[in-house]
Amino acid sequence: MRLDRWLVTLGIGSRKDVQRLVRSGAVAVNGQMEKDPGKLTDEKTARLNVSGSEVDGRLMRHVMLHKPAGLLTAARDKKQPTIMDLLPEVYQSIGCMPVGRLDKDTTGLLLLTCDGELNHRLLSPQRHVDKVYIARVDGPLDASHVDAFARGLDLGDFTADGALLEILTSSPGEATAKVTVHEGKFHQIKRMFEAVGRTVTQLHRERFGPLVLDEALPVGQWRELTEDEIAALYRDACMEEAK
Ligand code: URA
Repeated sequence: MRLDRWLVTLGIGSRKDVQRLVRSGAVAVNGQMEKDPGKLTDEKTARLNVSGSEVDGRLMRHVMLHKPAGLLTAARDKKQPTIMDLLPEVYQSIGCMPVGRLDKDTTGLLLLTCDGELNHRLLSPQRHVDKVYIARVDGPLDASHVDAFARGLDLGDFTADGALLEILTSSPGEATAKVTVHEGKFHQIKRMFEAVGRTVTQLHRERFGPLVLDEALPVGQWRELTEDEIAALYRDACMEEAK
């Protein structure tokens, strides 16, 4: 990739800005000052230094975020804060995008990736990637609800496939349950509970395919995926890992 394009993609500046920067001698590649903005560089392996500081030049990154309530799952919104506000700007510049959505009031595991094909495949209904949620609802749950979830539920515009409902606690006023689904339709979990006469009062995702929300990750914090997690995701997506 041309050096100027690499720098622009990393969000270091506009094309004009970075060309000026390179020509001024502020950029070093593999320890050598590089004054040609058009210099072809291997962005996967080259070490980059800008104005005396090492810059992480990786364009392929995958992130696990512990989403807090109150943020939209969107790359950008004119009025409301989004989950991208929790990450350094470079993740936006390099095109790291959420894989699917969690509602504004839903918390828990959100995956972001720069790999558009991986993103697409993990969301594809044919892949049957399991998602596990913990839901709190406004009334008791019993075996009839477990059966209804297992049979599949008519949600009006579509019929949700059979899902696993595991009751964790149940009392006359509220219940908590673990729900495993492989689809990811808009408001799916909330609508499934509505279909059996319960309202979700709290929703948290603890698993997405092979990824389990890292218990060491406080709400609102993020980290990049480990090599093992990345390999597991590509395996689930039946893809070669993009570097
Ligand atoms: N189902 C929902 O209803 N909301 C979410 O955020 C995720 C799944």
